[in-house]
Amino acid sequence: MSQESRSFDVPTNDGMPVLGLGTWENDDPAQCAESVTTALETGYRHVDTAQIYGNEAAVGEGIAAADVDRDDVFLATKVWIENLAPEDVAASTRESLQKLDTEYVDLLYVHWPAGAYDPAETLPAFAELRDDGLIDRIGVSNFEPEHLDAATDALGEAPFANQVEMHPLLRQEELRAYADANDVELVAYSPLARGEILDDPAVGEIAEKHGVSAAQVSLAWLRESGVTAIPKATGADHIADNWASLGLELDDEDIETIDDLGRTDRQLNPDFGPDW
Ligand SMILES: NC(=O)c1ccc[n+]([C@@H]2O[C@H](COP(=O)([O-])OP(=O)(O)OC[C@H]3O[C@@H](n4cnc5c(N)ncnc54)[C@H](OP(=O)(O)O)[C@@H]3O)[C@@H](O)[C@H]2O)c1
Repeated sequence: MSQESRSFDVPTNDGMPVLGLGTWENDDPAQCAESVTTALETGYRHVDTAQIYGNEAAVGEGIAAADVDRDDVFLATKVWIENLAPEDVAASTRESLQKLDTEYVDLLYVHWPAGAYDPAETLPAFAELRDDGLIDRIGVSNFEPEHLDAATDALGEAPFANQVEMHPLLRQEELRAYADANDVELVAYSPLARGEILDDPAVGEIAEKHGVSAAQVSLAWLRESGVTAIPKATGADHIADNWASLGLELDDEDIETIDDLGRTDRQLNPDFGPDW
C-alpha cells in the first residue's frame, strides 16, 4: 500500500493522522490490545509502538479486533538501537511485521541515533525495505539537526518525520525551525510530559478557561503548531479525553502564554542519547 493511495478520515500532517495512540509501558498484553481497539473505535487512526516496547503482538491483536480495516490505520514502529546494522534492520523489521500481523508498516523509525546506528549503513537498509514495500515511510527519532543533516545525506532526501519529546514545557524551537525549513514532520512523544503537564499552573488556567483538561491544552497546542502527537493512554477515559483535543481551538493569548513559559523540562535523557 503506497502512501499516495491512502486517505484518512481524520486530520493529517502530510498523510499522517495528527493524533495517534502511544503504547510505551502499556505492558500487559490484554490491556494493551484493549487500549488499541478502544482508540481505533473512538476514531484514532494512528498507532505508535516500537520493538523495545515488547508489545507489537498486542498492538497487532488490538488492530485486528477493532472494527476498522488495517489499511485505514497508520501504523508506526521503531527499530531498536541494537538492530541498526543493515542485516539486523531487515531481519528485525520482518519480525516486527510478523508480530504486528501485517504486511507493512506506514512508518519505520530509527529509534535513537545510537548503538549500531551508522547513517551510511543503516538508512540504505531502511530504503531497501521501502523499495520492497515493507514500509511506506522512513522516520528517525531523537535526532538533532546534525543527525538530520547526516541522515539526509545518506538517504538523498530528508526523512519523513523526526519523533522527539515535545510539549509546552519543552517547545523544541530549533527542531521546529529545522522541520519547517527542510520539510520534515515532527511527531511529539511524551506530549503530556509524562503527566507533568497536568500540574503546570499556566496550562491549568488555560484549561479552566476553556472548560477542558490540561492534557487537551497540550495536545491542541501541538496540533496548532503543525506537530503530530502520540499521547499514551490506557483506559477509555484518557483515550476519549485526548481525542476531544481535536475540537479545542486555543486563542492567541493562550499560545502566547505557552510560548512565554520559557521552560526546558526534558523527561527522557538516557545515557545513550544525544548531547541535546
Ligand atoms: N521515540 C522515543 O524515544 C519515545 C520516547 C518516549 C515515548 N515515545 C512514544 O510516545 C508515547 C507517549 O509518550 P509517553 O508515554 O512517554 O508519555 P505521555 O503520553 O506524555 O504521558 C502518558 C501518561 O499520561 C497519562 N495520561 C494520558 N492521557 C491522559 C489524560 N487525558 N489525562 C490525564 N493523564 C493522562 C497516561 O496514563 P494512562 O496510561 O493511565 O492512561 C500516562 O501515565 C509513548 O507511549 C511512545 O509511544 C517515544
